[in-house]
Amino acid sequence: GLVNSRDLFTKAVKGGYAIPAFNFNNMEQMQAIIQATVETNSPVILQVSSGARKYANQTLLRYMAQGAVEYAKELGCKNPQIVLHLDHGDSFELCKSCIEMGFSSVMIDGSHLPYDENVALTRKVVDYAHQYDVTVEGELGVLAGVEDEVSAEHHTYTEPDQVEDFVKKTGVDSLAISIGTSHGANKFTPEQCKRDANGILIPPPLRFDILEEIEKRIPGFPIVLHGSSSVPQDKVAIINKYGGALKDAIGIPEDQLRRAAKSAVCKINIDSDGRLAMTAAVREVFANKPAEFDPRKYLGPARDALKELYKHKIVNVLGSNDKI
Ligand code: G3H
Ligand code: 13P
Ligand code: NA
Ligand code: ZN
Repeated sequence: GLVNSRDLFTKAVKGGYAIPAFNFNNMEQMQAIIQATVETNSPVILQVSSGARKYANQTLLRYMAQGAVEYAKELGCKNPQIVLHLDHGDSFELCKSCIEMGFSSVMIDGSHLPYDENVALTRKVVDYAHQYDVTVEGELGVLAGVEDEVSAEHHTYTEPDQVEDFVKKTGVDSLAISIGTSHGANKFTPEQCKRDANGILIPPPLRFDILEEIEKRIPGFPIVLHGSSSVPQDKVAIINKYGGALKDAIGIPEDQLRRAAKSAVCKINIDSDGRLAMTAAVREVFANKPAEFDPRKYLGPARDALKELYKHKIVNVLGSNDKI
């Protein structure tokens, strides 16, 4: 069946790699994720946001995730390591409901609350979840951009002085931090970036100094990075070539994520890159085969493109291949 994140994180922190956490809302995304992880022999965290739950229906998502384990076996994985995780849970009730629906892991995101309220809410979720052996991710620090329907103009970096107290008081299994990543496809403005010799925009680096400080306070404790899409410029170019209008789409350079994966960062969240890969593939089919109207003829190529993207992330960025 599904597994929680505990052993996966312990192994990942020790082994210097990160488990991919990919969001899914539909069958093609789920198939792409499972195909990519089976072909690379990687554990995986299937993430469902509350928006995904509304979009796809909680019962369908539940059985799709359970089906994912059987599907992985059918594809040849003897011992699938698949976590079903709630992404950005915003209330105790939502976390409880997901646990009742068979999730093996939940995030309670109280990062926008005053510190003491974040502690209290997170503690309440942990006390409930641990009765069912469900692991819990908490968050300290606020990412710039829109998170949890709360929008912030600037990053509030995680305060290293708070992390030890937070993990002690809450009992969380992992901690999401803010060190310069953000959600979506517009993580930096061009003005915030430098240009290299070829005119390529280089975003400001992540705050590895803060990460290192955090690691000193809670050595070996599992750290999570949200907002870790790299916004591949080849995908952006295809989208814009075939009628899209993505402006100033800039992500986190892969070398930054590679470095993070070697640290105590053991879960890296990627959603936007998958959206870009699917959209590029669909737009290309629509532009080149305008007579096509069978959804399989554009969702199929989108699924294949998504699978290739995820394999690339696993093998070339996160290093979670051959870890089952
Ligand atoms: O953190 C947000 C994830 O990318 C999920 O996005 O809320 O639009 O499903 P969503
Ligand atoms: P991206 O928007 O960078 O893919 O981040 C996804 C995420 O953090 C989901 O929780
Ligand atoms: Na790691
Ligand atoms: Zn997130």
